[in-house]
Amino acid sequence: MQKKILEAGEVFNAEITKIKNIDELESIRIKYLGRKGLFAQLFEEFKKLPKDEKPKFGQLLNDVKKSSQEKFDLIKNQFDGSSSQVKNYIDLSLPGRDRQIGKKHVVTQTMDEIKLFFQRLGFSVYEGPELESDYNNFEALNFPADHPARDMQDTFFVTNDFVLRTHTSPVQIRLMQNKKPPIRAIMPGKVYRNEVLTAKSHCQFHQVEGLVVDTDVTFAELKGTLVAYAKQFFGEDLKFRFRPSFFPFTEPSAEMDIWWKPEGKPAQWMEILGCGMVDPNVLENCGIDSEKYVGYAFGMGVERTALRKYGINDIRLLFDNDNRFLNQF
Ligand code: PHE
Repeated sequence: MQKKILEAGEVFNAEITKIKNIDELESIRIKYLGRKGLFAQLFEEFKKLPKDEKPKFGQLLNDVKKSSQEKFDLIKNQFDGSSSQVKNYIDLSLPGRDRQIGKKHVVTQTMDEIKLFFQRLGFSVYEGPELESDYNNFEALNFPADHPARDMQDTFFVTNDFVLRTHTSPVQIRLMQNKKPPIRAIMPGKVYRNEVLTAKSHCQFHQVEGLVVDTDVTFAELKGTLVAYAKQFFGEDLKFRFRPSFFPFTEPSAEMDIWWKPEGKPAQWMEILGCGMVDPNVLENCGIDSEKYVGYAFGMGVERTALRKYGINDIRLLFDNDNRFLNQF
């Protein structure tokens, strides 16, 4: 008897979820819930049971009939009086859908990690605007008027006097104009360059600038700080090199390369940062006595760090906004 009752409930459920119009609904009502329907028949059988078995099955039969009737009423309500089509039928028995929880972009994650490393070394964090004056982006940083970086090829000029900053170095200027040494700060942010897009370069990317100004700052400290950073990020056995380089705002200047093997491409050097001792002219431009104070600065590319760290072989993937890619990190 128990099996019969449960089966009746199951076939009723299976049939009623498949109905397409009000006529089918009505025939189901007759078949199961009507005066001569399946449930009525089960009640007849129930009446004939010996007295001591009745309590056992009575409750079950009532429950199954009741939930079937409820489901029937619910579906009947979905029918509009004028139409015979199922309208907005909601199956409350379906499992719910998982909600997608957002997460930080891999570039933001990498920036956060870089920030954390330098904060532990006692660096504070400052930010500056992406729309920057030509003065802060170039002139105060000792770029001569005819320097090629000021060319339209590299820089997005917004007006004659304003540019989308091409590096985070102008934040050094803002900082030194407003704060007197000792200074020990990093300045993360987005920068823009009018460049051809390739696997390694993009027209928008992020940098983390660093600046230390004090009376006893040395190039050895700069190098030690950057080596400690790179090893913590890429592992103790990292292969790296410093190359002499040139920036108008540092003297001497260097670039740091790390060895990496992009997937499917030969192993190669990749430049991850520029650095050097702050040029005395820059200190003077900000009203800092260059006889008394010395500084070092560095600027590192965040995307390139992420490429190497996570084994991504094309910088463009980072800005395609494809969730299938981004959800891996
Ligand atoms: N601003 C330089 C660049 O974008 C990097 C740099 C920063 C170099 C600070 C030296 C010191 O290439």
